[in-house]
This record gives sequence, structure tokens and C-alpha cells, in this order.
Amino acid sequence: MVSATDGAGGGDSSRPWQTLSAGFEQARAHEDSLDRLVEWPAQRALLGDVTGLAILDAGCGNGTKIAQLARDGAAASGGVDLSENFITPPPGVELIQGDLSDLAAVPGLAGRRFDQILFLQSFGYAADGVRALQVAREMLTADGYILLTRTQPIRYAIERAEQNGTSLGEEYFATESFAYRHRNWNDQVTLAKRPYTMSDLLNTFSAAGLWIEETVEPRMPADAAERYPHKQAVLNKYLGILIFKLRPVVLPSR
Ligand SMILES: C[S@@+](CC[C@H](N)C(=O)[O-])C[C@H]1O[C@@H](n2cnc3c(N)ncnc32)[C@H](O)[C@@H]1O
Repeated sequence: MVSATDGAGGGDSSRPWQTLSAGFEQARAHEDSLDRLVEWPAQRALLGDVTGLAILDAGCGNGTKIAQLARDGAAASGGVDLSENFITPPPGVELIQGDLSDLAAVPGLAGRRFDQILFLQSFGYAADGVRALQVAREMLTADGYILLTRTQPIRYAIERAEQNGTSLGEEYFATESFAYRHRNWNDQVTLAKRPYTMSDLLNTFSAAGLWIEETVEPRMPADAAERYPHKQAVLNKYLGILIFKLRPVVLPSR
């Protein structure tokens, strides 16, 4: 059994991902995974036409998404992940083992600029979320933006209220880290997660000097809901994820 108690001072613990990544990727590849049915289609739609763009995927998993973006025309793209459980990348894509907490310190990334930097279900693992976003902001091109997704915090509050026999509000506003196991990924691996509220999330963006251009709460398309009612039932209960398109705040010069 793998467990983790680190990450207490900053974000969620990253260490268990060395073990967890294989199970996560297997679950994500299932035809009924919420990533395939809901999350990736919504993320991909927001990214739009990527022809010629330089894209960095921070916490890229095995690199499937950045590889897809390269196939869709993105140029000079890269993925960074701690777990190093990478696919063989297509030409033009570099997959690098590194920590998303400080992207400028990842080998080969210092001084590089990107049109889009992605934190897809990975931002919570940054040792210091504000600092990670500040570093990423400095790596954007003049018209660049960050696409960041995070699980609805209400989802964890509902789960823990059910487990602990407490209320939604008690768990939503709790501050202690909690142990979390994902049955579909690998139920032998325990992640240490820090609770967060919606205001925590929004204040992190402000503190990092970013403004929200767009927020999306993706839903299951009707045909998918018909095919996979058990997955629609999960969303009916736990809501899903939030997607934010974030741009640097540019203050008017006086
Ligand atoms: C939930 S998965 C999301 C993967 C992918 N972005 C996606 O959308 O499918 C979280 C990923 O973050 C990676 N990760 C966790 N902590 C990290 C860190 N400190 N630096 C870089 N990657 C990290 C994990 O190895 C894992 O691949």
C-alpha cells in the first residue's frame, strides 16, 4: 500500500503518482471515462484552432493530450509530468519529467514562451499554487493564456459528508488534509488532498495576477448520457469539473 502525508504545506501530495499513473491512464482510456466523454471534448473546444501554436501541458500524464494537439497542428509543444509514464511522442513534442510547481526550472524550459499553458486536473499538485501560476504567467506569449481545470470542490465535500456522516457545509469549509482513494485508478494508493473552496480557487488566480476570461462547467452530451447512464448519474451527484481560461492582468500605464 502506498500512502502519502507530504504536501501538507502546499498542494496535494504528488509522490503517489509514481504508482498511480498507470491505473489512472488505463481508467482514462476506457470508452466510458468522464475524461473522454466530457472533460477532454470541453477542454479541446476551448483551445480552438491550435495551428502553429506553442503549447505546454503541465501535469500531462502520459502525454496523450499534447500529442493530439500536435497532430491538430500545434508546433513546438511540450508536456511535463512527474511520473514519467510517457507514450512515444509524435514529432515536435517533447515530454519531460519535471515538477509543475516551477515550470521555468524544468530542464529545457527556461526562457521558452508558450501560447497556451495547460493545467488539466494537475494544478492541485503544485507545492504553491500562486507561485506555480506566476511562473507560468511569465512564460506566456503576449497573447497567451492558461487553461486550468479543477474538480468542483463541492464534489469532495459531498463524498466526505457521506463518508463521515457530516454535512456538506462542514466538509466544504474544512481545512485539514484528507486521505483520498480513487477506486477506478488504484484503490491501494492513498492521495493526501487539501480541501479548497470556490473562493480559495478564485483568490489564487487573482493573487497570481490572472483574470478569468471564461469559465465552463462541462456537461455530458445527451447521446453519451443515453449510452452511459451510470456516468450521467455520477455527474448528477458530484457535478464534475470547472474549466478556467486565464489571462495575465495588464495594468494600464499612467
Ligand atoms: C489527474 S492526472 C491528470 C493528467 C492529465 N493532465 C489529464 O488531463 O488527463 C494528474 C497528473 O499530474 C501529475 N503530477 C502530480 N504532481 C505533479 C507535479 N508536482 N509535477 C508534475 N506533474 C505532477 C501526475 O503524475 C498525473 O499525471
